[in-house]
Amino acid sequence: PDNDDRFRPGFHFSPPDNWANDPNGLVYYEGSYHLFYQYHPYSNKWGPMHWGHAVSEDLVHWEHAPVALFPDEHGAIFSGCCVVDWNNSSGLFEDSHGLVAIFTHADTHPESGQPRQRQSLAYSSDKGHTWQKYDGNPVLSEDDLIDFRDPKVFWHQQSGRWIMAIVAGDHARFYASENLREWSLTGEFGKGEGSHDGVWECPDLFQLPVDDAGRSKWVLIISIGDNPDCPEGSRTQYFIGEFDGKTFINDNPADHILWLDYGRDNYAGVTWSDIPEQDGRRVLIGWMSNWKYANETPTGSWRGAMTLPRALSLTSKDGSVVLTQMPVREIGQLRKDSLSWKDVTVTPKTPFIQQTNYNLLEIEAELDVRSGDAVYIHLKSAGQDEILIGYDPADKRLFTDRSHSGVTDFHPAFAGRHGASLAAVNGQLRLQIWLDRNAVEVYADNGLVVLTDQIFPEAPIESIGVSAKSGQVVLNSLQIHTLESIGI
Ligand code: FRU
Repeated sequence: PDNDDRFRPGFHFSPPDNWANDPNGLVYYEGSYHLFYQYHPYSNKWGPMHWGHAVSEDLVHWEHAPVALFPDEHGAIFSGCCVVDWNNSSGLFEDSHGLVAIFTHADTHPESGQPRQRQSLAYSSDKGHTWQKYDGNPVLSEDDLIDFRDPKVFWHQQSGRWIMAIVAGDHARFYASENLREWSLTGEFGKGEGSHDGVWECPDLFQLPVDDAGRSKWVLIISIGDNPDCPEGSRTQYFIGEFDGKTFINDNPADHILWLDYGRDNYAGVTWSDIPEQDGRRVLIGWMSNWKYANETPTGSWRGAMTLPRALSLTSKDGSVVLTQMPVREIGQLRKDSLSWKDVTVTPKTPFIQQTNYNLLEIEAELDVRSGDAVYIHLKSAGQDEILIGYDPADKRLFTDRSHSGVTDFHPAFAGRHGASLAAVNGQLRLQIWLDRNAVEVYADNGLVVLTDQIFPEAPIESIGVSAKSGQVVLNSLQIHTLESIGI
């Protein structure tokens, strides 16, 4: 690859060229998963937003499609969603059904000169190939709100109407509609709840079973924008609770914060609409960047990729319900060659080292850390670049360290180590790691803790090492799979 393509991912979605941010309009319809995204077709920096478009049959291989939505007299096209209007409740279709996109139109208020954000519709009768804007746009505006964006709509079975979750600066709002065109406010949630380190963005709201116990809970996902005082930058939190058809009720105390991801590069994630009930999965994809440095990353003519798509589940942990996530099983089809080891003891003097000479990898490690010693996984290039993943049983911390991961100097907040607390159950730790040219995703204990991070190694990663800090650690098993590129 030429210099520009050094960081072009092998199995993560990236735009054909130019700037991309949030995933938008995620919908499954007639055999295809649609991925729209915030897109600037003429620049590798953020600007007047369009909706880029890609289509997949398996959530892994993507075909680029023409830009779906262009800015118009109501402004730029910010984030939003798509639904299948199965019963033509909108009256927008001659035929029985079609796709409706509900998104934010962003412009400037003609009198106050302040930013203005209003909600609008577009629809497609040809499976998402072409789109018409609704001629009654915008369909929802609130004059007193400056931040009012990122609508996420779903059909609420229990009350037989459409519900929109949308954010308004420091809270989420819920609106209801019979026809997707007229909306009325039913509730508000969030003032004083969870993290307010940044403006609230990109909500999602859905119900999931808890384990297999026949119980279910509602999940409210809220991304929070960058704050110059927070080294973490933009990140995503979630709430667990109930939705009564009008508003969200938090199960946890207001000051309890649940993070979706402990890496730095999983933002604005939302889930696919209309995945068939027989499948039953709730699949999330996030923008794999961070507003802290998103405009500066060294990728050249394109900028901004997506995380792997992840299936979400709820599980009970120490008496409360938490979200877990794992890459969708379809990613497994990318495996080419596999190597495996069992019962390897590593010490500082006898680390495990394997040359891979190949930089698209999936690594599965079952570690026995009962000795109490810290364990490190080193992903190294031929040069000096190293991505370090570590677990220290003493302080119960899992971390990724990208201090020496290659190109890091484009922003002072990029290099460094960050992680999450995690208790190894019975001294056992299971790590699954996906390594791409531009990213490393670390899943611990079947997705209980996840760290998603961009990396920009100067030269390809070509060896994997496992070492112990001072005593010994046992690798119960280790598997390294080389992965095919999706060729995007
Ligand atoms: C989140 C966000 C959204 C907005 C979009 C603009 O990353 O700021 O709130 O709709 O990006 O591109």
